[in-house]
Amino acid sequence: MKPLMEAAIVDVCSNTSTLLCGKMVIADLGCSSGPNAVALVSIALEAIHIHCLQFLQPPPEVCVLLNDLPDNDFNTVVKSLVTLHQSNNEPIVATGIVPGSFYERLFTSGSLHLVCSSNSLHWLSKV
Ligand SMILES: C[S@@+](CC[C@H](N)C(=O)[O-])C[C@H]1O[C@@H](n2cnc3c(N)ncnc32)[C@H](O)[C@@H]1O
Repeated sequence: MKPLMEAAIVDVCSNTSTLLCGKMVIADLGCSSGPNAVALVSIALEAIHIHCLQFLQPPPEVCVLLNDLPDNDFNTVVKSLVTLHQSNNEPIVATGIVPGSFYERLFTSGSLHLVCSSNSLHWLSKV
């Protein structure tokens, strides 16, 4: 997933409207609760950091939203989010948990810049 995520970040960061507003919202659907819960979004944050350094752009403020079903162990996920804050001084990161099924409406329209989902398709709550 790493090269895919890096390519997606370059794509989003090259979009002038994202750059002008200086804010980016990233959601991971089906994050689970193990060490992988923040793996994808960590790659995204690192890719944003590298892209901004390379093109001398000010880093955007990034909001990271992690989703899974309400039964997920979000207590553990929240502890991982603290690690995410500590390991990334740039870009500025705000985090949030979005419990619920991704078959339902989870976000307001037009509020996300990048949505990722890894290894959730063989573990679906319904076909
Ligand atoms: C195999 S885990 C993948 C975890 C992580 N994304 C990774 O790549 O390692 C699949 C996750 O998808 C979640 N999931 C399945 N159906 C879902 C749904 N309808 N809405 C939200 N999450 C769902 C499961 O609860 C589980 O945590």
